[in-house]
Amino acid sequence: MKVLVDGDRGYVGAVLVPLFMEAGHEVVGLDAGWYDGCDFGAQPTGYESRTGDIRDQRPEDLAGFDAVVHLAAISNDPVGHLNPEATYSVNAYGAAHMAQVAKEAGVPRFLFSSSCSLYGSAGDAAVTERSDFNPVTPYGESKVMAEQLIGKLADDDFSPVYLRNATAYGSSPRLRADIVVNNLTGTAFTRGEVRLQSDGSPWRPLVHVQDISRAFLAMLEADRDVVHDQAFNIGRDEDVVQIRDIATRVAERMDCPVTFAEGAAPDKRDYRVDFGKVTERVPGFRPAWTVPDGIEELASDMERIGLERADFEGPRFVRLERINELKAQGRLDDMLVLKH
Ligand SMILES: NC(=O)c1ccc[n+]([C@@H]2O[C@H](COP(=O)([O-])OP(=O)(O)OC[C@H]3O[C@@H](n4cnc5c(N)ncnc54)[C@H](O)[C@@H]3O)[C@@H](O)[C@H]2O)c1
Repeated sequence: MKVLVDGDRGYVGAVLVPLFMEAGHEVVGLDAGWYDGCDFGAQPTGYESRTGDIRDQRPEDLAGFDAVVHLAAISNDPVGHLNPEATYSVNAYGAAHMAQVAKEAGVPRFLFSSSCSLYGSAGDAAVTERSDFNPVTPYGESKVMAEQLIGKLADDDFSPVYLRNATAYGSSPRLRADIVVNNLTGTAFTRGEVRLQSDGSPWRPLVHVQDISRAFLAMLEADRDVVHDQAFNIGRDEDVVQIRDIATRVAERMDCPVTFAEGAAPDKRDYRVDFGKVTERVPGFRPAWTVPDGIEELASDMERIGLERADFEGPRFVRLERINELKAQGRLDDMLVLKH
């Protein structure tokens, strides 16, 4: 299939694109390039990546594609808080615009990268795809809005699918330091301690970035009847873990102590997720990674590449730092539109 992957030059995209190409699909990327140069190893090659903003796409830009994989977004809570209007503009209205344009261009399938964070603070029971939305941040709200707006476009010729991904972990040529497993492993590597930002009690659903990519591939190749206008939690039951258990694993691997950041307090994002639906209905999706394997992979890549603390804690790998840098340089405005 010919697939447009937007957000291809981010953390997930840099892992997903090679996987799609290996599976025999033709990929074209589209990305604003916010993290160009923020590299952790060699970038994928052998495909065309267009530079542009999803909010500017026209139907003629999407003509001839069999599917769109929509990854482009403000990808975490701290950046989402900077200017909630910008977050809604990209993550909700921008996503809906891409879906509208894809539909007008006759693209039959639209795979939306949603997030388990739309369940927010959800109590003790594991949330399923039928559970209420309870987002606690503009980022979480923007994913709810996007699913609702895109859902209105579903019809016989246009099949959106909502992949509600757990929090990712694992190595990528566009590593992110601001997601929990990567953060704890990198902090242990660069500071010699596992520093917890919360008291470690919250439950968090996790999924390896390669398994997220495999889920998109499975949704691309699944029968339309199975996935049409459906939401799927993406992750695995074994990887719903408490933060303090991740910290212990990292501390064991790196042979260092666990410490608590000043003012460490309980985290509002505390939820458990049920992954039964994807396992049952999409047998093409078989997650392969566990958190301990991911910690091992990250630690050995950090050793091989010689990760520096300044990089790990700065704009190269922390999304908020990079966005603030681009704004300070006058290259991004408050609505996160690139200035040329
Ligand atoms: N990484 C996770 O833990 C996780 C978990 C759940 C959901 N997701 C979702 O998966 C997607 C990818 O996440 P990621 O971790 O790769 O994020 P990322 O920040 O690493 O990459 C996002 C990419 O989108 C691009 N982009 C942003 N706004 C754009 C715009 N207006 N036009 C064109 N390109 C734009 C950026 O330049 C960047 O390359 C996001 O939608 C995110 O919300 C990620």
